[in-house]
Amino acid sequence: MKFKHVLVALSMVGLVGATAFTNAEDTPKDGKTIFTEAKCEGCHSVTSLGIESKKKNPFDLSTVGKAGDAEFFVKYMNKEAEIEGKKHAMKFKGSEDDLKILAKWLSELKEEKK
Ligand code: HEC
Repeated sequence: MKFKHVLVALSMVGLVGATAFTNAEDTPKDGKTIFTEAKCEGCHSVTSLGIESKKKNPFDLSTVGKAGDAEFFVKYMNKEAEIEGKKHAMKFKGSEDDLKILAKWLSELKEEKK
């Protein structure tokens, strides 16, 4: 009798453990998700990745990574740096962590088509 109870208890621990494991990793957001959430698509497309803006004649960012590295884009999105003498239209409003991921993602956009 007792032995059976131990078995039941053990299998329940196993079940809970398995459930916890599958829910465990909260994967960090990727650049594309942050780009979408920050509504960059309102003005920009990234046609190389299939991101289409609803705007007419959007400014495409498919090759924007040629303009600078991740560190540069953090500054640019904070309006602390310029491209061709121009600061960005608006400051990034999300968290610092999201901005770092977004900036790295932008710096890696270098090809028209992947
Ligand atoms: C209200 C419109 C608007 C929104 C929203 C917007 N941008 Fe821009 N963005 C612009 C304009 C205008 C330019 C300047 C384009 C030019 O050089 O003519 C620009 C330029 C850029 C550039 C530099 C492109 C280049 O080579 O000159 C980057 C990078 C960029 N935006 C990223 C973003 C990101 C990331 C977001 C979302 C957080 C965003 N933008 C949201 C309007 C916008």
